[in-house]
Amino acid sequence: MCGIIGYCGPRAAKDVLLDGLKRLEYRGYDSAGICVASAGELTIIKRTGKIAQLREIVPENLPGVYGIGHTRWATHGVVNDVNAHPHTNCAGDIAIVHNGIIENFSALKEKLVNEGHVFRSQTDSEVIAHLVSDFYEGDLETAVKETLQLLKGTYGLICIHAKEPGRLVGARNGSPLVLGVGQEEMFLASDVMATLSHTKQVVYLEDGEVVSITNSDYHICDLRDRPVDKKIETISWELENIEKQGHPHFMEKEIFEQPESVLRAMQGRIDQENATARLGGLNMSTTELRDIERIKIVAAGTSFHAGLVAAYLIESVAQIPCTAELASELRYRNPIVERGSLYFAVSQSGETLDTLSAMRELKRKGARVLGICNVVGSSIAREAGAGVYIHSGPEIAVASTKAFTSQLTAFYLFTLLIARMHNMSFEAGRDFIACLEALPGLIQKGFEEQNHIRALAEKYSRYRDFLFLGRGLNYPVALEGALKLKEISYIHAEGYSAAEIKHGPIALINDETPSIFLVPNDSLRGKVISNMKEVKARKGKVIALCVADDAEVRDTADDIIAIPKAGELMYPFLMIVPLQLFAYYTALKLGRDVDQPRNLAKSVTVE
Ligand code: F6R
Repeated sequence: MCGIIGYCGPRAAKDVLLDGLKRLEYRGYDSAGICVASAGELTIIKRTGKIAQLREIVPENLPGVYGIGHTRWATHGVVNDVNAHPHTNCAGDIAIVHNGIIENFSALKEKLVNEGHVFRSQTDSEVIAHLVSDFYEGDLETAVKETLQLLKGTYGLICIHAKEPGRLVGARNGSPLVLGVGQEEMFLASDVMATLSHTKQVVYLEDGEVVSITNSDYHICDLRDRPVDKKIETISWELENIEKQGHPHFMEKEIFEQPESVLRAMQGRIDQENATARLGGLNMSTTELRDIERIKIVAAGTSFHAGLVAAYLIESVAQIPCTAELASELRYRNPIVERGSLYFAVSQSGETLDTLSAMRELKRKGARVLGICNVVGSSIAREAGAGVYIHSGPEIAVASTKAFTSQLTAFYLFTLLIARMHNMSFEAGRDFIACLEALPGLIQKGFEEQNHIRALAEKYSRYRDFLFLGRGLNYPVALEGALKLKEISYIHAEGYSAAEIKHGPIALINDETPSIFLVPNDSLRGKVISNMKEVKARKGKVIALCVADDAEVRDTADDIIAIPKAGELMYPFLMIVPLQLFAYYTALKLGRDVDQPRNLAKSVTVE
């Protein structure tokens, strides 16, 4: 979390930094600051709040054509002006911005304090500025490299020195850092969104690399001073992809983009002639694919929920044992990597530290790990080296929506590919493809309920507790629906298997705890209707998602949200979209900050 940016070029640095920070705000938004250098002096302006509030206190005529900036998601030290970045050394001529956690900061700080350094903040990051200042003997890059030898933990950082005009030094270890190469200007940033309006030419830094930039030049080396030759890559995203394009929130835009994003995830990947999928990015031969004995999926949050759906699907359709596990748990439980296992690390951002660390541990044990990522060039995508890009386009709202349905699409295609090698007939393959190809149109059709969902969200927005209940493939969708509601509306919501409520959660049912039931037209429909009746018998209010002509569900529920009829396996796509809208409209009604809900950040690069 936290977003960092650096700029060297001909323009007013403050404008480039503030605009870039605005683009990085999804990474953290409790406080922010910039440092701009001019005439051998550093000016630091920082404060609690969002970039818009920082902008209010930055003077219009602030001079300086190079500088650094930061938007914070607090880890060490409360949210206040002093703990906001940039941080400086005692003399105030060196400033740093840092994303990550310095795990040994206490010991370093104690030593520095004993040597006479005066600390102003409670952050772990401030030690970096003091250490650089201790090592500084006229060359910032050398001082930064020596400092890095002492740091334990993760960092993406940028450092500036008042006495080295027009120069910035950046480094990365575990937190992303990208170099943007412009015309007579250079950028450093946590991600390409911050620089996209200036340049599409970027270089992705790897862990252990240090970069030094001026407005016209850059060089990259490792910690032992060996130069590293890096390829300049061209970003394919357009600026309009990261604008709201008339929507009041990114979340609304991203929900309504799903017919196209699901289509994009499958485009060019369907092989009609052989009734299978084409996933060249897996880099696996037919024999290797045939030899897979079991599949394991690791991920966090929404990506984990997509993995849970995939586990149900792969096991039931491709008949290969498959499980999904939270990356944060797997990484510390010394997992057994069996021969014949294939792993997927699933991550929208490709930067989630838990998922990245789990993947690294699996690889250390000899596992084959493929990535399913959205952000091209992200750490997980690069370290996996093979996998499936979901091509959702930038997802900016903190609550993940379109990435979920695109991750599902990738898994559905993989299931088709692998099932066709095992037990799925040509005709069944063709049917599966037809169901997949119908999805964009069906998701679009589901939007016809938009106004009704809004009215329901408003009607139910006064309740403080909700249950989300589904079964089979739609059980993980219930978990995801509950996650959406809680993270953006702050209403307490629990997702359960509908079958499971009789084992405990039914005790919560009363007329103040509505239940949202997912009742698709599938083989478990009758069972879920029985669970719904059990809730009704206890005076629980029920909103059911079902096909429009399901008279029994309509008669049982207090309210329904109609979903289009689809192939039995396709309902997760059609169930989640109305749940995303329900959460969105509820949060709107309650006046929440939909795109940037409290305490959260989009890219979770700390443990
Ligand atoms: C929920 C949400 C988070 C992320 C989780 C993993 O709306 O956004 O739960 O899904 O932090 O993020 P990625 O997919 O980037 O690894």
